[in-house]
Amino acid sequence: MQTTEVTEETWDRLLAVAHGGKNLVADFATMGAIYAPIAAAKGSFVLAQVGQSLDGRIATLAGDARDVSGPDGLTHLHRCRALVDAVIVGVSTVIADDPRLSVRLVKGDDPVRVIVDCHGQLDGNESLFHDHGAPVLVFQSTDAPQKTLANATVIRLPSEACGLNTGMMLQALAERGLHRILVEGGARTIARFLEAGHVDRLHVSISPIIIGSGPSGINLSPIQRLCEAQRPATTVYSLGSDVLFDCCFERKPFSSLQGDGGQCDKVRVADLA
Ligand SMILES: NC(=O)c1ccc[n+]([C@@H]2O[C@H](COP(=O)([O-])OP(=O)(O)OC[C@H]3O[C@@H](n4cnc5c(N)ncnc54)[C@H](OP(=O)(O)O)[C@@H]3O)[C@@H](O)[C@H]2O)c1
Repeated sequence: MQTTEVTEETWDRLLAVAHGGKNLVADFATMGAIYAPIAAAKGSFVLAQVGQSLDGRIATLAGDARDVSGPDGLTHLHRCRALVDAVIVGVSTVIADDPRLSVRLVKGDDPVRVIVDCHGQLDGNESLFHDHGAPVLVFQSTDAPQKTLANATVIRLPSEACGLNTGMMLQALAERGLHRILVEGGARTIARFLEAGHVDRLHVSISPIIIGSGPSGINLSPIQRLCEAQRPATTVYSLGSDVLFDCCFERKPFSSLQGDGGQCDKVRVADLA
């Protein structure tokens, strides 16, 4: 198992590379192999991250997920947030956790907050619409009831049999200059991106806690045989309180023009913000 030390100096260099420092070369060896690929990513890059228990749960049955990760797992999550342009969560996570999705445990800017709320379940009273934090974007289906969400930009996309097309969401974000993306959960939202082949890196951070029941970290369509299972190239790191599995995937292009395999018919983005 590898360890990674992120000194203040290393972190400053990572932030500088992430923010496009022209003459900074991403030196993976000295900048920490976990974070350098995120900071140095050029063009579209999608990191999915899940913090789970020893028994693979991300929350209790009642939806309590706040302390699944240990302190170093949480610091890791905040580092990931600080290195990306936008963080995506599903509507159930917003309803269960009322999260801020900000960077508080490390130095760095807050990412734009993106919520997948296909059917327009949010009522606008959720904290992130009123906390004067980073901008909020909400993806909804064009079939969802039209509601005003204060302090948010609503992007309406045609809904497909499998919901909102993750490639179209990534494209809509890229059009707004948001290229480096963290998909933070929950399980169903991460699964949508994984099944579409739209994840470059998956970080599974495991904390020594046993929850016993509750939702699992990643919920993909069933397979019959283990030979059909995905086996990404993986490096294991000790974060301190938690263990990180850093999994590398081969990303499919997200553009609806480039063929989106795994997702439904291609349609155009309708931005009614
Ligand atoms: N430990 C962690 O790292 C962590 C992180 C985040 C959240 N959580 C916990 O996870 C739980 C919530 O997870 P979850 O899996 O139930 O919910 P979720 O992923 O937060 O949200 C699921 C909802 O979003 C919709 N959705 C997601 N992607 C979509 C797409 N591409 N198109 C259309 N709809 C889409 C789903 O639709 P469908 O119903 O059609 O699938 C569903 O309604 C909460 O308890 C939260 O506390 C834990």
